[in-house]
Amino acid sequence: MHKRSFLGTAVALGLLGASGLAMAQDNVFKIGLILPMTGQQASTGRQIDAAAKLWMAQNGETVAGRKVQLIVKDDGSVPANTRRLAQELVVNDKVNVLAGMGITPSALAVAPIATQSKTPLVVMAAATSSITEASPYVVRTSFTLPQASVALADWAPKNGIKTVVTLVSDYGPGLDAEKFFKSRFEFNGGKVPEALRVPLMNPDFAPFLQKVRDLKPDALFVFVPSGAGSALMKQFAERGMDKAGIKLIGTGDVTDDDLLNDMGETAVGVVTSHHYSTDHNSPANKKFVEAFQKANKGLRPNFMAVGGYDGMRVIYEALKKTGGKGGGDALLAGMKGQIFESPRGPVFIDAQTRDIVQNIYLRKVEKKNGQLYNVEFDVIKDVKDPGKAK
Ligand code: DHB
Repeated sequence: MHKRSFLGTAVALGLLGASGLAMAQDNVFKIGLILPMTGQQASTGRQIDAAAKLWMAQNGETVAGRKVQLIVKDDGSVPANTRRLAQELVVNDKVNVLAGMGITPSALAVAPIATQSKTPLVVMAAATSSITEASPYVVRTSFTLPQASVALADWAPKNGIKTVVTLVSDYGPGLDAEKFFKSRFEFNGGKVPEALRVPLMNPDFAPFLQKVRDLKPDALFVFVPSGAGSALMKQFAERGMDKAGIKLIGTGDVTDDDLLNDMGETAVGVVTSHHYSTDHNSPANKKFVEAFQKANKGLRPNFMAVGGYDGMRVIYEALKKTGGKGGGDALLAGMKGQIFESPRGPVFIDAQTRDIVQNIYLRKVEKKNGQLYNVEFDVIKDVKDPGKAK
């Protein structure tokens, strides 16, 4: 008699324990953040990881009654890894949202998993225009290369640049940058005698730069992904391109704030167009930069950090809008149409395209207080991705 009731109690307690645990698990809202924490794109991973953690430290880990858990996975920017990790996060961890995506091939590898599992995929870095069309569950908080390139193609011919050779990393975002810069620049009366493409992995810019030197255009337009700008800048100087009178222009990826300060004199005067500069003059940005540097031993936040920080905001706000329910379709609906003040300026998640609408700034590298910055000198407001405008 005694023994049976003891067993019964033990079983009852066991059941309670299990269901209590299940309830606690249900209450956890999981974000699977896949980033390149190692390899050629590691700076992108480090920036976004730090920004996501800053967002959580500033905004708490409980949203609409749910405990938010960030699960960070390193894909080394190998798309087969990104895909496998996304699958594991969806099937085993049952994440509510997938996020991150350091390079375009990673985002494209995961898009079908987002569609099949109805899991929102918040793209915080990758910037090829077509990514948002790869799945109806993609929402982007970074930028697109067409968005960043067109402003520069309007600026250049008004500033004495009539011939340009383009040099881009040979994959999605580079091809977008080349296409949109070239067609807009030619439309404005400019000439593009040569369009060069350099491999994404372990690029050697030297033979391409030699060719540019021989062609002697007014300027060289460059797209390289975040992290690759220093190598290009170094070889540009070594070949004496600036001394030969060839200007360097590009999207802001090449004067990445993560690297800029170590680029030296060659970088001074380089004009780029982009959506974010650490130097952006707004109270929201000043607060962001200060908090980011304080939490990361003085590391400068770059445009990748801002994509990660804003991506977390989009997820948090969507979860609030669902009243903490957090189903895939409801979250997606909550992400569409969000308008807010980002450290980069005002932004809008276009409900139709799920892509970000934002200001594009023209900037020039200048030395201020002994440090190099991308100093904004003009702005084109509320730029939609021209890659989609039919
Ligand atoms: C991509 C990666 C980058 O590092 C960048 O600066 C722009 C685009 C990409 O792969 O989409």
